[in-house]
Amino acid sequence: MQLNEQTLELLRKHEQEHLVQFWDELNDEQQRHLQHQIDDIDFTLQWKLIEQRNAKEGTGTDLDRAKHAKSPEQLVRLPQNEAERAERKNAKLAGLELIKAGKVGAILVAGGQGSRLGFDYPKGMYPIGPVSQRTLFQILSEQLLARSQQAGVEIPYFVMTSEATHLSTTIFFRDNGYFGLGEHNVFFFQQASLPAIDDSSSAILLSEKGSISTSPDGHGGTLRALQKHGMLDVMNERGIEHLFYHQVDNPTAIVCDPVLLGLHEKYESDLTTKVVAKATPEEKMGVLVTIDGKTEIIEYSDLSSEDAYRKDTEGNDVFWAGNTAIHVFRRAFIETLLFEEFSLPFHVAHKKIVHIDSEGTLVEPKSPNGNKFEQFIFDALPHTNVALVVEGDRDREFNPVKNSDGNDSPATSRAAMLRIASEWIQSAGGNVEEGVKVEISPLYALDAADLRLKKLDEQSFTEDTILNG
Ligand code: UD1
Repeated sequence: MQLNEQTLELLRKHEQEHLVQFWDELNDEQQRHLQHQIDDIDFTLQWKLIEQRNAKEGTGTDLDRAKHAKSPEQLVRLPQNEAERAERKNAKLAGLELIKAGKVGAILVAGGQGSRLGFDYPKGMYPIGPVSQRTLFQILSEQLLARSQQAGVEIPYFVMTSEATHLSTTIFFRDNGYFGLGEHNVFFFQQASLPAIDDSSSAILLSEKGSISTSPDGHGGTLRALQKHGMLDVMNERGIEHLFYHQVDNPTAIVCDPVLLGLHEKYESDLTTKVVAKATPEEKMGVLVTIDGKTEIIEYSDLSSEDAYRKDTEGNDVFWAGNTAIHVFRRAFIETLLFEEFSLPFHVAHKKIVHIDSEGTLVEPKSPNGNKFEQFIFDALPHTNVALVVEGDRDREFNPVKNSDGNDSPATSRAAMLRIASEWIQSAGGNVEEGVKVEISPLYALDAADLRLKKLDEQSFTEDTILNG
């Protein structure tokens, strides 16, 4: 296949001719793939990003933001007294009503590549069930199914994938019968990718002779991807008004949490965020803050160690409110952002990027050599009219799988699932013997109250067990 003159002209204009330097060595299929990748590049955006990188603006090191930040103000903390407990109870009922009325959908962001975990498949395929080896996808989907059954409605699941995870994710769901949710309730939509560039020039990197090195555009790409793939129309047709948003890495997130939904509605919030108290000031979590009256998130990479320890005048940590990346979005708020063609800022990451050099030799760098560009969904926060922050119970709700060992690893997440199951069983009058593992499927019980209905009175678990639905 002949390289067309228009493409060559475009590449020349944008100083990216090297992308086709191996064109004649490629077979037809490789040429088509490369042509397709080139056609996909938004060169105007690409230049803006390069200029931003060169100016070192918006690189995520805007340390001044932290200087002006206060603890989040529009906040519902964990209940400390009767009135606050009653508020949560009422919120739970209101949240369940929203679900029953068919006004709630769920968004799962599953486009990340899970490289920190050292797992070569989409992260959602990671087997995390402590006894059953259920995958993250299965546990989260079963939670949604159990919630749907509890409310007597079908809650749609909008699953965001990326170029790297789309095919395997869709096949995995299909091969597992959509985990009982029904094919018509699971909507996959793929986020966009952006080319990676060399950190000392403007050159886009090639991962191989016939392929450009790309990476997902960050979870901020969710907004554009929802629109591009017609998901907003689906939501509209199904009467969805609120979207419970969560990440694929946390099996203990309470999917479609009625309490969070109810508080979101009560405070007429556009975008509600669940936070938990950080374990240490330097824990790698984004923090919810108020800056000039607006709720925002400062990502951990933008918070200096010195700032992380700052206290307010009453001696409390300013940056205590860790972002669990669990949100509720009002659909109308997403639509307003898209209608106004609002663009989230891009963050520039400096990463090690395997690529080929001008000789066609594979380079595996030992230190960062290139830039990737990502948008963060939470940068939408300052554009809300109301952005509520709700504190959740860390031990119960935040046990993510991020690293292969140490903190936030499969071992800590599995241990948490076993601890939670054991606590629920005790509250239902049962007992788990020391060293015994009991795993509770969401289809068996969604929470301690649900389990109490199963009448486990005095049942003692003496061997590893899975309580299945
Ligand atoms: C993220 C948050 C951090 C929060 C923490 C809680 C960011 C930038 N930071 O950190 O504030 O405290 O979670 O666990 O998100 N994803 C995509 N597409 C992408 C990039 C990511 O779908 O292009 C998904 C991943 O599949 C994953 C999630 O977003 O489900 C988190 O991404 P990751 O980059 O691992 O964020 P963290 O550093 O863990």
